[in-house]
Amino acid sequence: MANIAIFASGNGSNFEALVKEFKNDKRDCVKLLIYDRRDAYVVKRAEKYNIPMNYINYFKLGKDKAEESITESLVKNSIDIVFLAGFMRVLSKSFIEKNRMPIVNIHPSLLPKYKGENGIGQAFDSDDKETGITIHYVNEEVDGGEIILQKSIEVVREKGIEYLENEIHKLEHEWYPKTARMLVSKL
Ligand code: GRF
Repeated sequence: MANIAIFASGNGSNFEALVKEFKNDKRDCVKLLIYDRRDAYVVKRAEKYNIPMNYINYFKLGKDKAEESITESLVKNSIDIVFLAGFMRVLSKSFIEKNRMPIVNIHPSLLPKYKGENGIGQAFDSDDKETGITIHYVNEEVDGGEIILQKSIEVVREKGIEYLENEIHKLEHEWYPKTARMLVSKL
């Protein structure tokens, strides 16, 4: 049995895709949402699915104490694996070393291209014929950990950036749950 935690800061569509994947699962379950923005839409999604939440106030606590608080939450909930889903904080090296469970992230570009924010826009503004998504382990380097899976699509610039964003999100919602399932089954 695996206890899953998801960290998110924003809309939470990937959070919801992961929750749906494990919703009727007797073995593995999403036990916790860690979020750092009180008004994030992901909160509404967590309420809808009754997922326990822990708000981490980075502003008040500062990074070290915020990460201590996250660690406490992970221990308390016996978390076995963490999925980042649009979590806009960089986890420190000491946090990653202390918490021995796998920590996985999804990024909307074909890493190592277009790390950091706005991966979709950067690809759209480039001459690249294709872009895509990367699911990878988290290490201390932003968007730099070992790659687990990549999926690519064609960049059709005539259709505009919104179309590309949509296509990327479709890929994410298909492949993040599948990859999560595969990783969790190995625990
Ligand atoms: C996704 O594009 C993900 O790749 C990136 O942040 C975005 C989060 O979107 N890390 P959402 O909050 O899951 O809708």
